[in-house]
Amino acid sequence: MAKLPLTEKEIEFIIEQLQNGQQLPEDLEYKLFPTKQKEYELVYGGKMRKEDILANEDGVFPIPLQIEKIFNDDRKTWEDGWRNMIVFGDNLQFLKTIYENKDPLIKDKIKGKVKLIYIDPPFATESDFKSGDKIAYTDKVKGAEFVEFLRRRLTISREILAPEGSIYVHLDWKMTHYVKIIMDEIFGKENFLNEIIWYYRRWNITTNLFARNHDTLLMYAKKRGDHIFNNLYIPKSEKSSGQGRAWQSVIDEETGVRRSILLDEKSKGVPMPDVWDISMINPVALERKNVNYPTQKPEDLIERIVKASTNEGDIILDFFSGSGTTVAVAEKLNRKWIACDIGKLSFYTTQKRLINIQNSKDLNSSNKNYSKPAKTFVTLNTGQYNLEKVFGLKQEEYKKFVMELFEIDIVKNKKINGIPIDGQKKDGFYVIIYPYWEFKDATVDEDYLEDLHSHIGKNVGGRLYIIAPANSVDFISDYHIIENVRYYFLKVPYQIIKELHKVEFKKFRQPQSKSNVNDLEDAVGFHFMRQPIVISEIKNNKNKLSIQIKEFYSDFTEEETGKDMDNFESLAMVLIDKNYNGEAFEMDEYYFAEDLLPKTKKKKEEDENNLKEELKKQKIINIELNKKGCGNNLMAIYIDIYGNEFKEVLSLK
Ligand SMILES: C[S@@+](CC[C@H](N)C(=O)[O-])C[C@H]1O[C@@H](n2cnc3c(N)ncnc32)[C@H](O)[C@@H]1O
Repeated sequence: MAKLPLTEKEIEFIIEQLQNGQQLPEDLEYKLFPTKQKEYELVYGGKMRKEDILANEDGVFPIPLQIEKIFNDDRKTWEDGWRNMIVFGDNLQFLKTIYENKDPLIKDKIKGKVKLIYIDPPFATESDFKSGDKIAYTDKVKGAEFVEFLRRRLTISREILAPEGSIYVHLDWKMTHYVKIIMDEIFGKENFLNEIIWYYRRWNITTNLFARNHDTLLMYAKKRGDHIFNNLYIPKSEKSSGQGRAWQSVIDEETGVRRSILLDEKSKGVPMPDVWDISMINPVALERKNVNYPTQKPEDLIERIVKASTNEGDIILDFFSGSGTTVAVAEKLNRKWIACDIGKLSFYTTQKRLINIQNSKDLNSSNKNYSKPAKTFVTLNTGQYNLEKVFGLKQEEYKKFVMELFEIDIVKNKKINGIPIDGQKKDGFYVIIYPYWEFKDATVDEDYLEDLHSHIGKNVGGRLYIIAPANSVDFISDYHIIENVRYYFLKVPYQIIKELHKVEFKKFRQPQSKSNVNDLEDAVGFHFMRQPIVISEIKNNKNKLSIQIKEFYSDFTEEETGKDMDNFESLAMVLIDKNYNGEAFEMDEYYFAEDLLPKTKKKKEEDENNLKEELKKQKIINIELNKKGCGNNLMAIYIDIYGNEFKEVLSLK
């Protein structure tokens, strides 16, 4: 082993510091634990080893997927067993599910086969513009948190890309330079292909600096040289044209002199450089009007990426999907696609965008509609389960579901003294699934356990797991001891997971105002959906139509405070389909809770607590609707801050 580069004095100092329970100065830390990185690396607190991320040591686990709905079901379009997907849930969990490659819905379909990943991650900007020492420090912490949040996702991204795949990470001046170093670490500096500058014109008044008018996209190959790359040429709109003919300004490589050349109409033109001049989406463009998502990116931008780095039939993944721009473009260019996002608004916006894709613009000609319906796609849930649905599943499916849920290996044909054993946990102890369907009115209580114990207690080796619906378990504690045997209850819903995985699970939160849509969300684990309680009424007068919400309660306690939530406090948003066709919810309008406060009460400063206080004070919440576009039935979806939904059909007749 190589000797540590430490002097006697330094060694003495280190020992002394440790004995006094003091931290070491950074320079000595490095001497003691020299970095293995050959060149430079980004150092910050909380940076996990790649191996630990992949081994779920970060406390985030793969999660079974559940189909919610299938759209445009046409078997012909998925002969090869592929269906495009919109996934609702935390992307780290989803990426881990892909990486694990066990879930029957995606097994061997995605891992190692993704040709393109495009992501446009959010970055919480609230305090970016403030100054002062204290704020500057929290900014740094936030920055490091963001880098690690992203790094975990990028680490798994590399593992699921195809050998010829590439990844584009869309960032701006705030984080690009940190993420570049992280990307070099994960993907290798040699696989860095381009730094693409997306330049957009916008009216920007800045006083003591230049107007910030570009975003940066970092483009990496999984393996440079093997990666797909189709040459693109500058579109005519970006050439300066003279008298109807296209001119291009070029720099002569030999002389360095700039000159204009006339482009032959038939020639492909000038190869696309790495600076892209593409307008932001015009507020009146069809693309904006149809979709209208706060951070929506232009289809023109994504089109270049998709065309350059994939071919028809290739799989494209966007796991910060937002309004689904990437997948809409992928659909139009005949690629396979996967969208994932943690926001309900994103989920319903993307769903609607795909259901109505025929009415969106054609990529080849802006004054034509695309006019084709979307190929089959499914909506999936990760980490959020509908209890009714789980219990409604047939027994075998229920068994399979809970086995996956609790990470249990199935044991076949095993009985102990006549009692069937269903599985075995990783620690080697047996698992039985409580057949609640046989004991409709009974519960897992002391009598049941005594009876079980008298049969098999001596043969289970100290511990037995019992999986049962939470409301069928009579014990509040997570286990019960009889003699030397601990009977553990794996309750569905999943409370015991804390005991087993040693992590606190966090529900993902939905924004209550438009300004929070781009907040960072990092959720682990999963929870079961509990419908909020909603009491509402539709008022249909001659010229006025409105929905009055009289009550809105969530069946959860507030995560941070453990308190019950007051009326309206947990309301995140209301989505409305004004002409519900009885089949799919096609969102026409959405209102964040903030939008539903009386105008005078709106606080623009984005303070969540203020917002909640104002919401609590409301006696009634009124949503005024424009009658135009309303059919006989409306559908309203009320969503709480944990993403739980209450859906109702309101009849106008
Ligand atoms: C900047 S937006 C993406 C916009 C998108 N490119 C478009 O054109 O509409 C970022 C998205 O990341 C989502 N997001 C944030 N944290 C997430 C997480 N942990 N998992 C999945 N999505 C997340 C947000 O809900 C938001 O929709």
